Amino acid sequence: MIVERASAKINLFLHVGDRRADGFHPLQSLAVFTDAGDALALAAAPALSLAIDGPFATGLAGGSSDAAAALRGLRTLWALSHDDAALCGIGAGLGSDIPVCVPARASFMEGRGEILRPVEVLPRIAMLLVNPGVAVPTRDVFAALTARSGAAMDLPRGRFDDTADLLRFLDTTRNDLQAPALRIQPVIGAVLAAIAASPGALFTRMSGSGATCFGLFADDDACGRAAAALKKAQPGWWVMPTFVPAFGGAPETGGRDIGPGPDGL
Ligand code: C5P
Repeated sequence: MIVERASAKINLFLHVGDRRADGFHPLQSLAVFTDAGDALALAAAPALSLAIDGPFATGLAGGSSDAAAALRGLRTLWALSHDDAALCGIGAGLGSDIPVCVPARASFMEGRGEILRPVEVLPRIAMLLVNPGVAVPTRDVFAALTARSGAAMDLPRGRFDDTADLLRFLDTTRNDLQAPALRIQPVIGAVLAAIAASPGALFTRMSGSGATCFGLFADDDACGRAAAALKKAQPGWWVMPTFVPAFGGAPETGGRDIGPGPDGL
């Protein structure tokens, strides 16, 4: 039995350019991967079967990360010699967001999502994830897009020494898909407002094409308290306190390790 972790991918920003001839939009994004996510277990068997459980079993989120984890798991199960670049190539044919989920490390995304540049230094980020349990088909959100930031911004070098450094950059960015997703599912506005109103919330935004929204918090304690309050106030919402691990020599900020989250994004 092989177990692969499928960390939740969060787009800290997402800029979209004009629709291309192939129907896709050029984009620029910064994707990070949280401690929370799904676990995929793969085993050889005489017949193909699939069992899914957890709060997102009906398919609300995490599909790209799950698909990338499946590719990594099959590489191991079948002892294939494909490197990550080869898996990214296969993944790109299955969905725009899958290549970045193959190495699953913080990266700038460009093109349709297949041009990747890993971030060099990232601080540990306490992050709250909230999904109101509504489906927002990616295709519909792109179709409802009216205002675009374009995808020709000079991307930074990708060294974020602390949270303040990261926030200074994020303040210059947007998620272009947030407004159209909000028109399709207005409850996303309530989610963003609830996160932003939580004590210790430093930054709030929708991820990707929705409906999952995230809050960056000053520390794990504030993030945990916000999660507890939101779970109580909105029992129908999926609420997950988690963190993005530091790497590349960034100092440990954000407080104590809250440990692995349960499966299910
Ligand atoms: O590639 P994926 O299956 O995730 O894309 C779903 C839909 O989102 C596409 O059919 C397209 O309408 C839209 N999309 C886009 N530009 C991108 C990624 C997705 O227009 N870069």
